Amino acid sequence: MDTQVRMGSGLEDEFQTLHEFVKAARGKLPPRIWDYLIGAAETETTMRRNRQALDSIAFRPRVLRDVSSFDAGSTLLGKPVRLPVMLAPIGSLESFDPGAGVTVAKAAERFGVPMLLSSVTTVEIESVGKAAGGFKIFQLYVRGDDAWIDERVKRAVDAGYDAFCITVDTAVYSRRERDIARRFAKPWRQNLSGTQYQAALSWKNIEHFKKTHRIPLMLKGIATAEDAEIACQHGVDVIYVSNHGGRQLDHGRGSMDVLPEVLAAVKGRARVVLDGGITRGSDVVKAIASGADAVAIGRLFCYGLAAAGETGVVRVLELLEDEIRSCLGLLGVTRLADVDGTYLHAAQPVVPAHVHSALPLLGEGY
Ligand code: LAC
Repeated sequence: MDTQVRMGSGLEDEFQTLHEFVKAARGKLPPRIWDYLIGAAETETTMRRNRQALDSIAFRPRVLRDVSSFDAGSTLLGKPVRLPVMLAPIGSLESFDPGAGVTVAKAAERFGVPMLLSSVTTVEIESVGKAAGGFKIFQLYVRGDDAWIDERVKRAVDAGYDAFCITVDTAVYSRRERDIARRFAKPWRQNLSGTQYQAALSWKNIEHFKKTHRIPLMLKGIATAEDAEIACQHGVDVIYVSNHGGRQLDHGRGSMDVLPEVLAAVKGRARVVLDGGITRGSDVVKAIASGADAVAIGRLFCYGLAAAGETGVVRVLELLEDEIRSCLGLLGVTRLADVDGTYLHAAQPVVPAHVHSALPLLGEGY
């Protein structure tokens, strides 16, 4: 039984479903920021496939199994988490809340999940380190050589981060046509200084990292069994299956379609986490049942952040937890850690996939 007494977000009456956050965020954000947030690359096919892959899984529920208790807790890198749900690294968090990474880190700590701080947000490594003592991971876009990376790792370690993440699906920046159409570019996308280091990044840099640093390393943006195998050979601690929410390579596969081959390649040598279209508690359950150690949410927590700051992010996580509770109870399971492939079955999606197709009550225009 979930016996811990916890302070709620305080937004229980105001926000009772996840789609209400999407509406509130859209009402607050300037159209160009809204489009930056929800947009993806070119035809946005990869982004839609993230949803399609999740919608292509149905449940096989079991009954009469006493589900009067509930436990969705887990551990990641040896640390306890209230849900196996991380807050993904999002660039330009200051567009959604003036406190940017500090606000998000406080929300993550308050609820009890890990957060990844993006290196392309205005807040520095140290201020987030000081503001929140929870589970924190620093995510890096590489803008220099190995010595430059080493210096960032040292700063992250000194500031108390628990792991370090290098994003590897961004050798080249994609064409986000919603942004291009508005002639809108974030300052970090206009400043091309150092981007050649990101383009030139190779397994040699990963080898150097693992020889030099003890902090756990996560590679974000693995999309094949082949690269998962090479990552394991390099001693990478966490393989992060991701297509950047469909924001980088267009016409990729949905993350949930990639997960099985990555798990088969990794064979337990690393933890495997995943993002891409996770919008519902049932999506979290599907990913964990498929063998992921944790998932991450990106756009979803930004709706909470834009709508109601720190408390909004906490409330989004509460609603996700409520949905997981409901899903597990109806599957005949009391612990999220107990779901496995026997609860899943292939299915035809019933709705056309798009960024908000998991939230039908949003209605037209979203
Ligand atoms: C983006 C950058 C921050 O997807 O990765 O917008």
